[in-house]
Amino acid sequence: MKAIKNQEDNLMEKISSLCKRRGFIFQGSEIYGGLAGTWDLGHFGVALRNNITQNWWKKFVDSRRDMYGVDAAILMRPEVWQASGHVEGFHDPLVECKKCHHRFRTDQIEDAKKCPDCGGGFGEVQQFNMMFKTHIGATEESTSISYLRPETAQGMFVNFKNTVDAFHPKIPFGMAQIGKAFRNEIAPRDFIFRVREFEQMEIEYFIRPTDWEKYFEYWKGEMLDWMEEVGIDMGKVHELEVSKEDRAHYSSRTIDFYFDFPFGNKELFGLAYRADFDLKTHKLDYIDEEEGGKTVPHVIEPTFGVGRALLAVLLSAYSEDPEGKQASDGAGEKEKRVYLKFKPSIAPVICAVSPLLKNKPELVEYANTKVYAPLKAEFGRVAWDDNGNIGKRYRRQDEIGTPFCIVVDFDTLSDDTVTVRDRDTGEQERIKVTDLKNYIKEKID
Ligand code: GAP
Repeated sequence: MKAIKNQEDNLMEKISSLCKRRGFIFQGSEIYGGLAGTWDLGHFGVALRNNITQNWWKKFVDSRRDMYGVDAAILMRPEVWQASGHVEGFHDPLVECKKCHHRFRTDQIEDAKKCPDCGGGFGEVQQFNMMFKTHIGATEESTSISYLRPETAQGMFVNFKNTVDAFHPKIPFGMAQIGKAFRNEIAPRDFIFRVREFEQMEIEYFIRPTDWEKYFEYWKGEMLDWMEEVGIDMGKVHELEVSKEDRAHYSSRTIDFYFDFPFGNKELFGLAYRADFDLKTHKLDYIDEEEGGKTVPHVIEPTFGVGRALLAVLLSAYSEDPEGKQASDGAGEKEKRVYLKFKPSIAPVICAVSPLLKNKPELVEYANTKVYAPLKAEFGRVAWDDNGNIGKRYRRQDEIGTPFCIVVDFDTLSDDTVTVRDRDTGEQERIKVTDLKNYIKEKID
């Protein structure tokens, strides 16, 4: 049991150190000792995040006729959060150790009587509101209170009327938003899994009440399709029907999608039937011309955390060659090979271009002008890599998850072909320089 636990901790350690080493994810405010529950994305983290969010937007907004995008302000009037029930009910149960004063969420500790850090006893359970409170303007009076939004959803509900007035959508239709949300989590943990500042991708899909079960099933299927599309290991995804007692205050039914993270089977995304809770509480309605009259549509809400998507994609992609397996490209034969098996459509770098030797100007010139520049102009996500020997470059690109490494060698100068090396198999093929763009396009598709 202990051995398995060590392996799991080890995997998270490997992932987080790879993310730092290769410029995906850094601890927030690291040079000042770090700020718990915050993480910064480096160059490849931004690229991976953008590929994930763009893929989501393309599938759920751009390729549909019934979806309307929103990008609402993070700061909203406090009435929004009073109406939504978050001021009243967005609490987690908290206990504080009387000895070391560490604080815990009661549902996250094994023994509710003993502090896991020092063995001390706890004080009374308190309800802790997770919204970050702030003040608008120069005064700190109660009238100036505002909150950093704990979910993007309300930014869509408060723009429901604007969207209906501007676009006259027919039911069913949806609103979609990608943006930051903030929660003052009592115990942020597990790398980017539970953090205080994160991004959500959310849809509010407005339906007639009698159709809710049909659309609930429909959105469940759409969510699962998308997870597969971005490369989440579907063998590790499980559905959990959330009991009435555990559902959020606004939900009449919730399914959580869980993922087998190394630190446990934990929530990845959620699907809720919010019924008419939000539109009613904001006193909003809709004229349903087909049904003839004023009505309050019901809502199905598929919700995705961007950071959790990123972590699940990273964990699903993380691969090591079995011990002793020699890479067929001959690079670093005695070392264990680590590679991120991203789908080409999601990989932060689609291909890396190298001259075989960086001190041969004719190779550098050819690689730069005839291979790198046109590919960079076409795909953007193209790296120039001439650091170290070819084996080292392959290992570096493997860890970044680059599906193709293109090498310009002396044969290229005479026959205009290059070597393209496949990340997963290590196999190499000769491709004509003029065919490279189509070759890569096909792989992305
Ligand atoms: N609008 C509904 C809503 O916000 P939620 O289950 O509280 O529902 C939705 O959050 C998703 O946001 C979660 O499934 C998860 O992916 C992500 N999420 C929630 N809290 C998070 C946190 N503290 N850190 C990272 N991601 C979080």
